[in-house]
Amino acid sequence: MSDSQTSSHPIWTNRWTYILATTGAAVGLGNIWKFPYIAGENGGGAFVLMYLLCILLLGLPILIAEVMLGRKGRANPVHAMLAQAKNAGVSKGWSFIGIMGVAAGIMILMYYSVVAGWSLEYVFQSATSNYMGKTPTDVAAGFGVFAEDTTRQLIWHSLFISVTAFIVGLGVTRGIGNAVNILMPILFLLLLMLLWYAYQNGEFMRGLTFMFSADFSKLTGQSLLTAMGHAFFTLSLGMGTIMVYGSYMPENQSIPGASVTVAFLDTLIALIAGMAIFPLVFASGLAPGSGPGLLFETLPIAFSDMWGGAFFGTGFFILVSIAALSSSISLIEPGIAWLEKLGITRIAATVGLALLCWLGGVASIFSSEVFDTLDFITANIMLPLGGLLIAIFVGWRLGYTRVRKEVTGVNNGLFNVWFVVLRFITPIGVIVVFYESIKGLFAA
Ligand code: PFF
Repeated sequence: MSDSQTSSHPIWTNRWTYILATTGAAVGLGNIWKFPYIAGENGGGAFVLMYLLCILLLGLPILIAEVMLGRKGRANPVHAMLAQAKNAGVSKGWSFIGIMGVAAGIMILMYYSVVAGWSLEYVFQSATSNYMGKTPTDVAAGFGVFAEDTTRQLIWHSLFISVTAFIVGLGVTRGIGNAVNILMPILFLLLLMLLWYAYQNGEFMRGLTFMFSADFSKLTGQSLLTAMGHAFFTLSLGMGTIMVYGSYMPENQSIPGASVTVAFLDTLIALIAGMAIFPLVFASGLAPGSGPGLLFETLPIAFSDMWGGAFFGTGFFILVSIAALSSSISLIEPGIAWLEKLGITRIAATVGLALLCWLGGVASIFSSEVFDTLDFITANIMLPLGGLLIAIFVGWRLGYTRVRKEVTGVNNGLFNVWFVVLRFITPIGVIVVFYESIKGLFAA
């Protein structure tokens, strides 16, 4: 790899490393586990459309803004925000965005690593043909039994956190950079293989219809909030991951160009994951709206009586695990980069934060309330709030000239479109969705 470490702050000199790392952060359990099941719970097509709108009008503009803050600041989210605020002559209080981001990353990892552990369990179960040939009731019951087996979940969760810590502990270029360069191509290949498998063995057209035909009567304020929250979650926005990765981005790379690539790949992979999963779900006569268990209950049922099920099941859950890993390293990195700047060694910072996430994961394993609360607060409140503040800061505080200097590689026309959307449409959109959902909560 031609990536290098400058004396003070690491930089991925290879542009692909930045793209793969950020795509790796974005593509994760959100795309393969969460997106299909929330689309299933919220009626399919209309929800998918709202989600795509949120990506375009809220996600992409904030993605560009957040990368810019990181690359301009060349530091972890807290210090990057401090530097920018000083630069613009505004309150240091804006560094709150960075602190909230570090906290959100750790809170997400506290349940994310548990779900990643489930996928490791299913790699194991698939590879040992555990569920092959069993009746659907027995396979579904298998997940229930596993969900009660706290020891087994603890083992997988601990393994997953350890691997995450190992990669991050190796450093930005040697650890994260090398890992994504190996993992991401494998992920793309596995996904294509599964799409082909679903096309051959599933009810492909029915899956497509479910995902793309819109029934707006199914949309509520709450599902709108879910769509918005998910747009932030899936692009890893509003919480410093994108900022810290932006700080490792080479100077001559175009921020809008790279951001469009990442948003496009992330969306494409979520849609392909849906197109691979729903046809298999329908082919087995299962319901798409079965919640967080969709991936772990229904897919093994589908694989259990299909040709090559154990092989493709193994491939599928390896895919899920890789996607989770490239995201989990990005969840913990903002906190580590911050602690490093405060004078703590990278190894100590990694061990400390990994332990904290491990403990939170233990709580999530023992209490589904902790699990659900961490998910709700981070995805539906902290990330959109962080994104809103970033949009306001870059749109209204930093000043046109400063922003224009950093956001290069696009002509003035396109730049102005982005800047206007970021100043007006994005903040209003986030506020309206917040308002609608809070109204909904009180009405409920
Ligand atoms: N974007 C990841 C996913 O879709 O699974 C989750 C995530 C990673 C969220 C990193 C936030 C983050 F900073």
